[in-house]
Amino acid sequence: MFSSFPNRRGRRLRQNRGIRALVRETILSKSDLICPIFLREGTKIIENIPSMPGVNRYSIDTLIPYVEKLISSGILTVALFPLTPSNKKSSDCEEAWNPENLVNIATRQLKKNFPELIVMLDVALDPYNIDGHDGLLVNGKIINDETLVALERQALVQAESGADILGPSDMMDGRIKKIRVALEEKGFKDTLIMSYAAKFASAYYGPFREAVGAQGLLKGDKKTYQIDPPNIQEAIREVEEDINEGADMVMVKPGMPYLDIISEVKRKFSFPTFAYQVSGEYSMIRGAIENNWLEKDITIIESLTCFKRAGCDGILTYFAPEAADILDKGSGG
Ligand code: PBG
Repeated sequence: MFSSFPNRRGRRLRQNRGIRALVRETILSKSDLICPIFLREGTKIIENIPSMPGVNRYSIDTLIPYVEKLISSGILTVALFPLTPSNKKSSDCEEAWNPENLVNIATRQLKKNFPELIVMLDVALDPYNIDGHDGLLVNGKIINDETLVALERQALVQAESGADILGPSDMMDGRIKKIRVALEEKGFKDTLIMSYAAKFASAYYGPFREAVGAQGLLKGDKKTYQIDPPNIQEAIREVEEDINEGADMVMVKPGMPYLDIISEVKRKFSFPTFAYQVSGEYSMIRGAIENNWLEKDITIIESLTCFKRAGCDGILTYFAPEAADILDKGSGG
């Protein structure tokens, strides 16, 4: 079908920057990026997170100017994660549906200051759970259906606070349906759900758990609800179920080690598909950059562009602010 050498020389298409740009199949742009942000209580605080160099926790007053900068650099969507003080963690997780909890206050402030900003919030109990788990725990067991009731309360308060996108990240069975029905009933017809549909029980979440202060707390592991990493068919079934239950967008998580899942999900469902380049992926790349083992700009852009090539519409990434700068400078290769 194709002519062969020397009628065809693959290298003709790679001979210079202009020709390469002309035949490029995948373009990464700033509007593809969702920036996760860690919050903490207090004022005038910007504190670094040792396991994630370059990523900080912000108090609400420092969050506002930070987000203003992000918006002017072209980042349109943020995802907020709280560091919860231990006296607000409990086994019934009621801080999760406190309208005055950190993420709800932050969401209202952000939407007031920047009405066009898209705010995404995680629906899961782990930041508020004394056991560090995403679900309620009774006698050492995660209880699915009781957890759904808590997640529904959490989701409704988040929608009420003005969150544009809810991201159920807990992997309980039936949660998307439960949340969707509740949102419809209460009149939140435009609130989007981006389900963490294929979320694996991954070692790559380690630095995040330090960032949200869940590290020492977690009793056991999350293997009874997050997917076993070797399983692709199971992941596809989970995604299909979340789409059927009313998700608007689906996410695969982690990202880079799971590009095969992303590609299969996009091919199979033709549905808005996202990936989370998680904390461990960030810290690996960042660590190598800091040691001068990898070149910063081209590594960051390559890592993100590959998500798009695999089929992603967008990517949650801690590199979002830097990637926006690199795309502006055109120094990403
Ligand atoms: C909590 C949650 C986790 C992440 C996002 N939401 C951690 C977990 O499931 O233990 C991980 C994000 C990251 O590692 O960057 N439900």
